[in-house]
Amino acid sequence: METILVVDDEKNYLVVLSAFLTEEGYEVLTADNGQRALEIMDVTEVDLVLTDMKMPSMDGIELLKRIKERSPELPVVVMTAYGTVEKAVEAMQLGAFNFIQKPFQNETLKQIVNKAVATYRVVKENRRLIQALEGRYRFDNIIGKSKPMQAIFDIIQKVAPTRATVLVTGESGTGKELIAKAIHFNSPRRSKPFIAVSCAALAESLLETELFGHEKGAFTGATTTRKGRFELADGGTLFLDEIGEVTPSVQVKLLRVLEEMTFERVGGTKSITVDVRLIAATNKDLKTMVKNHSFREDLYFRLNVVHIELPPLRERTEDIPLLTAYFAKKYARKADKGEISISAEATEFLCNHRWPGNVRELENAIERAVLFCKGNEITMDDLPRELISFSDLEIPIDWQKLSKLPEALDAIEKRLIQKALLLSNNVQSRAANLLGIPRANLQYRLKKHNLL
Ligand SMILES: Nc1ncnc2c1ncn2[C@@H]1O[C@H](COP(=O)(O)OP(=O)(O)OP(=O)(O)O)[C@@H](O)[C@H]1O
Ligand SMILES: [Mg+2]
Repeated sequence: METILVVDDEKNYLVVLSAFLTEEGYEVLTADNGQRALEIMDVTEVDLVLTDMKMPSMDGIELLKRIKERSPELPVVVMTAYGTVEKAVEAMQLGAFNFIQKPFQNETLKQIVNKAVATYRVVKENRRLIQALEGRYRFDNIIGKSKPMQAIFDIIQKVAPTRATVLVTGESGTGKELIAKAIHFNSPRRSKPFIAVSCAALAESLLETELFGHEKGAFTGATTTRKGRFELADGGTLFLDEIGEVTPSVQVKLLRVLEEMTFERVGGTKSITVDVRLIAATNKDLKTMVKNHSFREDLYFRLNVVHIELPPLRERTEDIPLLTAYFAKKYARKADKGEISISAEATEFLCNHRWPGNVRELENAIERAVLFCKGNEITMDDLPRELISFSDLEIPIDWQKLSKLPEALDAIEKRLIQKALLLSNNVQSRAANLLGIPRANLQYRLKKHNLL
C-alpha cells in the first residue's frame, strides 16, 4: 500500500483529504505545517506529498525545495488557491509533479494522485532492480536472473578453477565472449593472458600462422620468427571464437594440440609445448555440422567437455528489465547524465520485442535511447524507430476508409514477410520456416512485394 503525506494548515482540509484518500486505498499521513512534514519524512517512507501552497512559516514552495534536495524523485503535488497561477508555474519549474487548484473535484485529485503514484512506482522498481544487480543477479559483468542464466553462473563458478575446455554456443549477441572472459578472470590463470582469435576473420593460411606462429623463412615475407596465439596464451586462456568456421586441415591441428598440448610453428620442426586453457565459441550448430561431416566429431568431443548454451534473449525475457536498467545506468554515467528510468510502456515493449540481435541489440538500443531522451526517463519516443515500426501493434490497414480486402491482405502479407526476414536475420530459409511456407513460395512473394 502506498503512503501519501498531506500537508495543509487548514485542519478541515486534512480531515477531508485524509478520508477521501484512505477510501481510495492509500495510507495517509498528515502534517499541519512544513516543518512537521519534513520530520515525518525523516522517519517514514512516503510515496507522494500533497501540499498546500499558502501556509504560515514555511510555504509550499519552500517545502517543495527542501523535499527535492532530499529525494529528487519523490513526486510532490501542490494545491494552489484559485487565481495564483504564477505560484503554480514556479512550483512546476522547481520539479513539482503537478498542481491542482482549490477547490477541486475529488475525481480530478484522484487522477493526479494515481498518476503520480504510478510514476513513482516505476522509479522505485528501477531502483530496486539496480540494487538487485549489485547482488545475486550479477556475475562479474554478466547480468541475469532467469533460470538458465543462474544455472550458467553456477557452471562458471564450477569450471573456472579447472582447466577443462569449454564450448560456448548461442546466437549472435547472446554474450559468448563475456562468458569466456568471466571464466578466465575467475580462474587461477587470471593474471596470465586472455587471448582471443576470431577464426572467421582469417583465411585458412593466415589462421594457421596466427594460431601456431611461424619460423623465419617459412614463407615469402616471413623475415623473422613469430610466436602464434597458442604461445602467447601460455599459462592463460585462448578463446577461439567462431570455431565453426575452421577448415578441416586446421581442425586436425587443433585436435592434436588439444590432445598433446604440443605443436610446431609453421615451417618449423621443433615441438613446442604450452599450457593453455581453451574456450571455444560458435553460433553454428556444431552437432549438425558433425552429422554432415563439415566438423570433425573427435574435435567436437574434445571441445565439448563442458558445454554452456546461451539461450536467445527472447527466451529469457525476465532478464530484459534488469539488463535495461544496467545498460541505462552504464550509458547515463558515460554521457554524464543523472539517474535514468524506463517508462512502464517502454519496459513492456522491450520485454515483448524478439531481439534477433539479442543482448547486443538491446544494449545498442538503450545506449541510443539514453543519448536521445530529454528528461530522466526513457519513453517509447526514445526507442529506435526500426524496433517500433515492426512491432505487432502496427497493422497496415486504413480503418477509416475501409481498405479493399485484397489490398489489405496484401499489406498484411508484406508486413509479415518483412517481420519474418527481420527475425531471421534475412536468412530466407529460416524466414520461410517461421512463416510456415516452402522457400520457393517465399521467394515468389518476395518478388511480388519488391522485397528482394
Ligand atoms: N548477460 C549479459 N549481461 C550484460 N551484458 C551482456 C550480457 N550478454 C551480453 N552482453 C553484452 O552484449 C554485447 C554482446 O556480447 P558478446 O560480444 O559477448 O556476444 P557474442 O555472443 O560473442 O556475440 P557474437 O556471436 O556476435 O560474437 C557485449 O557488449 C556484452 O557485454
Ligand atoms: Mg563474439
